[in-house]
Amino acid sequence: MKEVLERTISAKEINAVIFDMDGVVTDTATLHMAAWKKLFNNFLDNHYPDKKRFTPTDYYNLVNGISRLDGIRNFIASRNINLPDGSPSEERNSRPTVHSLAYKKNKYFKEILNQKQAEVFQDTIALIKQLKSKNIKTGLISASKNAEEIVEKAGIKELFDIIADGKLAAKEHIKGKPAPDIFLYAAKSLKVKSSQAAIAEDASSGIKAAKAGAFKLVIGVDREGKDEMLYNAGADIVINNFNEIKISD
Ligand code: BG6
Ligand code: MG
Repeated sequence: MKEVLERTISAKEINAVIFDMDGVVTDTATLHMAAWKKLFNNFLDNHYPDKKRFTPTDYYNLVNGISRLDGIRNFIASRNINLPDGSPSEERNSRPTVHSLAYKKNKYFKEILNQKQAEVFQDTIALIKQLKSKNIKTGLISASKNAEEIVEKAGIKELFDIIADGKLAAKEHIKGKPAPDIFLYAAKSLKVKSSQAAIAEDASSGIKAAKAGAFKLVIGVDREGKDEMLYNAGADIVINNFNEIKISD
């Protein structure tokens, strides 16, 4: 019985649901993972052949839900590698810097995205439509600077009352996950308190951010068999598919 109640969004208590994008709304976390793998393994092969190569665990622990630049900083630190930050103006240079790696990562990601159109998770869309029919607001957040383009191409931009993505975070100096700031920014834009909003996230960094923001319900979205990782990060519930969530009046 407890499980059933926990998996219910009560329209009386929850006025908004804020969704992370990659891995929750669009099937793009796996595309990011492929781009990261190509970037880091090419980099290690060329400059640090003795260091441990990039693994899916590195993706979940070091880059998932994190901005492009911080993802690089986390990964090189994990391998005890020091690189200069460089700058956006010299990002196309071949000298390895945080910025030049970031430039390459985005190039690889765009190449993958051009070959494979980003898929949308239909269970998420079905829930969003139900929420809207009950006048529950919806927000979309992402660490990605490609988020807006992805939702536009997928034709789902109109489903969200607010979109706060990596481009906005950089412009407004909004701290990245695990800080709660991007979720709090979205909630404020939707005119709801965190105690009136639920978060749906697939990354442990995002679950930690949602908990730090004291949101009413933190839903871990596990599409890859990572439920334990999401519970450990602090998720209130973990689902495999949004059809497990019911909405009550
Ligand atoms: C996050 C992904 O949503 O966005 C990361 O989980 C990704 O893997 C990050 O690197 C930044 O995205 P982008 O498109 O700005 O490089
Ligand atoms: Mg995500």
